[in-house]
Amino acid sequence: MAYSVDVYAAAKRVLEERRTAAERLLSLKKADVYAKIPEIKQLDSDLCKNMAALSVLILRGGKNLDCALEEMKAENEKIRQKKASLLLENNLPEDYLEPQYTCKNCGDLGRKNGILCSCYKEICKAEAQKELSKSSGASGCSFENFDLSYYADNGAEDGTNPRRKMNNYYNFCVTYAKTFTENSASIVMIGKTGLGKTHLSLSIAKIVADKGFGVVYAPAQKMVSNLERERFSGSASDVFQKKYSECDLLIIDDLGAEFQNSFSVSAIGNLINERLYENRPTIISTNLSGKELADRYSERIASRILGEYRKLFFVGEDIRFLKNR
Ligand SMILES: Nc1ncnc2c1ncn2[C@@H]1O[C@H](COP(=O)(O)OP(=O)(O)OP(=O)(O)O)[C@@H](O)[C@H]1O
Ligand SMILES: [Mg+2]
Ligand SMILES: [Zn+2]
Repeated sequence: MAYSVDVYAAAKRVLEERRTAAERLLSLKKADVYAKIPEIKQLDSDLCKNMAALSVLILRGGKNLDCALEEMKAENEKIRQKKASLLLENNLPEDYLEPQYTCKNCGDLGRKNGILCSCYKEICKAEAQKELSKSSGASGCSFENFDLSYYADNGAEDGTNPRRKMNNYYNFCVTYAKTFTENSASIVMIGKTGLGKTHLSLSIAKIVADKGFGVVYAPAQKMVSNLERERFSGSASDVFQKKYSECDLLIIDDLGAEFQNSFSVSAIGNLINERLYENRPTIISTNLSGKELADRYSERIASRILGEYRKLFFVGEDIRFLKNR
């Protein structure tokens, strides 16, 4: 799970909010119980004193430490039992004054004994899904609503039949998403406008993000402008650079539609190179032909993409147009 720093920061906030809510609820309950059952207030204060004394004992050490600790533990246990029975007598559950954390395992700390808790992984995943749906404009694109009947069922059976070809691509994408790993192949989707490239890449993105991988989607233009702002803002921040180069799956949508200058060409070229070098999968969608890719980003980059990515040549008629007919 290689998520961006934003995702980890958001997950940390969620944990903090959960802890604060549990503690706030606990102090409300305490105030209520102390007013009704003052004896419990006294017992809590005894427990506090014992805890403080316990710390002193441990700090001091000494040869009778073990014995003293055992005594104090037994004393504390007695107080706890007394508290529990008082609560029960007053028709309250015996753990009424225990903090009710969302995660019983880690007390909403996100880790236990130095190991990440499963709740933390779940929170990261949910935050990453939120980020993905924000960046892709909550698209609603999925494998379920990818309709093959938009592609003509004509032509030869040798692969020039558009529906057959797109059906193969669709199956490839479904399998790719379901079996995704950090070292899956990269994909380039090439074709005219409105053929379903963005639709299929976002469908893959959703499944891969649901599996707990860090997926970043960005139209090339947005990616370049984020990198450009970061690079020339004068700050030392490299949040976007890291996010694009280190995520588990990067989706560069509409490559070639970005405003072209020497920065955009080298920023995109470097990202593509770096991710290939690190064996990190990337999905590119583009309207550009092989020659146009070479003219724009250099022969070297074009040959990397066309030579090392799995190539899907989309066919058919503009589905935006077909849908509005
Ligand atoms: N097979 C399909 N079934 C249902 N809807 C589809 C299908 N393919 C595309 N669409 C829808 O048609 C619209 C255009 O598709 P999409 O954006 O994926 O095209 P594109 O190939 O990425 O085009 P562009 O090159 O202009 O970016 C979207 O609203 C998309 O959800
Ligand atoms: Mg598109
Ligand atoms: Zn937990």
